[in-house]
Amino acid sequence: MCGIIGYTGNENAVPKITKGLSVLEYRGYDSVGIAARTGNGIETVKCRGRIGALEEKLEANPITDCSCAIGHTRWATHGGPSDINAHPHRAGRVVLVHNGIIENYKELKSEMSAKGDRFLSETDTEVAAAVLNDEYGKLGTPAEAIRKAIARMTGSYAFGILFEDLPGEVWAVRCGSPLILAKGTDGYYLASDMTALLPFTKEYHCLEEGQLAHLTPNSAELITADGETVTPTWSVTAMTPESAQKGGYPHFMLKEIYEQPEAIVKSVSPRIKGGLPDFSADGISPDFWAKVKNIQIVACGSATHAGLVGGRILEQVAQVPTSSYIASEYRYHPPLAVDGTLVVVISQSGETADTLAALRYAKQKGLPTLAIVNAVETTIAREADYRIYTYAGPEIAVATTKGYCTQVSVLYMIAAAIAHSCGRICEADAKELVRSVLEDAPVAIHQMLEQTDALRRMAGDICHHEHVFYIGRGLDYAMSQEASLKLKEISYIHCEAYAAGELKHGTISLIEEGTPVIAISTEAALYDKTESNVREVYSRGARVILICRDDAKNPQASADDVILLPTTSGAATLFAALAAVQVLAYETAVLRGCDIDRPRNLAKSVTVE
Ligand code: AGP
Repeated sequence: MCGIIGYTGNENAVPKITKGLSVLEYRGYDSVGIAARTGNGIETVKCRGRIGALEEKLEANPITDCSCAIGHTRWATHGGPSDINAHPHRAGRVVLVHNGIIENYKELKSEMSAKGDRFLSETDTEVAAAVLNDEYGKLGTPAEAIRKAIARMTGSYAFGILFEDLPGEVWAVRCGSPLILAKGTDGYYLASDMTALLPFTKEYHCLEEGQLAHLTPNSAELITADGETVTPTWSVTAMTPESAQKGGYPHFMLKEIYEQPEAIVKSVSPRIKGGLPDFSADGISPDFWAKVKNIQIVACGSATHAGLVGGRILEQVAQVPTSSYIASEYRYHPPLAVDGTLVVVISQSGETADTLAALRYAKQKGLPTLAIVNAVETTIAREADYRIYTYAGPEIAVATTKGYCTQVSVLYMIAAAIAHSCGRICEADAKELVRSVLEDAPVAIHQMLEQTDALRRMAGDICHHEHVFYIGRGLDYAMSQEASLKLKEISYIHCEAYAAGELKHGTISLIEEGTPVIAISTEAALYDKTESNVREVYSRGARVILICRDDAKNPQASADDVILLPTTSGAATLFAALAAVQVLAYETAVLRGCDIDRPRNLAKSVTVE
């Protein structure tokens, strides 16, 4: 939702903060700011716009004598994008940056106003600063003041804090929003995620819920919820600065689409033993799978769509009843949990607040939880009973591609593991399924990416339209939902996914001459039915792109364009279709001149509910 960063050490802080913020921009980019500790106290520079706007201000009025600072890039929640609402926010001797939402900020604002505080912005963050300053004025010790202040707040937060009378010190605390500490040769850092700190260090520590951090130029200490002071244990990240850069591609999204074959191999290989699915390295034994009688998949956005596709594969292959739920709805009409229910939460970032809340709800109900997460050691990964990482590497583009792709590949492997553990498929079939995901899927994606010119031409046919429809049946209806989201979130074209058989019950009235309809047909058994739905729209003037198997009979009969998919295996067909719809969305957005990696109004990790 927002990105925060801080530094204290023996070097100039300002360029470190601005460099880190430029990496964190994918978390939110409608306003930006820095609070720099100088000989004159704490100077704040902030504005609406992206990091470039802040750098212009700093070039005009350089801050040089500063070795301690905090910075923030914002995705607006309370109060629109503006100079005044940009972070950092100050109250008395406190200056802070915030990622999250203070849900009771209105009550606190009334309380503080009654005490004489005056507020300049519309934000909950300025209120949090006032509350902390209030407590600091009473107690005079930062740790106790922070504890008392957060006890008065409800909601989610990660705070980076400077105190006017504590030069060189950076304080931090988190609850519900991520915060990483890092140790450099030049001092100590904090950030919302590690990608921002890769240019400076690889040694990091994930701050736990409720823990305080106290950084000075030469030390870092943690203060636990019961007041104990401990020294952080530092881990070394496998990420490199290059892995967080574009690597020659015009956009992170395209780089990440091309990284999918390798990402599948990296995610699947560690879960194969003797050619069979094996999750023992993840702490999950075969008899764990044998006990699974029912699966609830809970996630948001594309992760939900991965769950929809994966859920059908789990039912088809493992014959386990599987239902998918939107995380933000899950708690409000919780499904009945029969014996043997496993709740699987899926999250690329591992920090999505809606998914985290659903995970906590499931745990409260005593249900076993398994998280499929890409970002290592994130809150969702740490709080689930079990976790399976998708080793896709850092995903920077807001629109997920390799994150989604590897989630589906892991769900394929889980389906094979359950089916084999329960004796529902023989060893040879389990090995074939594993092989198809490990070998056929990456090849199929590579082959589809070689058709980019044709896909770019088709993108030219749809990019001027206001409305586009995806249709499919069964697994293809599930796939259509991700295809539709990809197109709308980066090209801003209104796009809907419909069950192909459902069109004639109403939606077909929207079809007029030239309306683009993209039909996905990967399942041979459903081709004839889907083809007849395609004919229904084609005969009414729709411009049809048919994405179908290469063994389909006469696909050109009712389509303007056909994209053929390999039929070497189900996995090959499915992942080729995925690559096709991702590239179609990407090329359409390029033709429309959209900001591919940072679409308007969106953020990579939505850490508020
Ligand atoms: C997908 O392209 C979107 N960026 C969004 O729907 C995303 O999938 C959703 O917010 C869930 O994020 P997560 O996987 O990090 O939990």
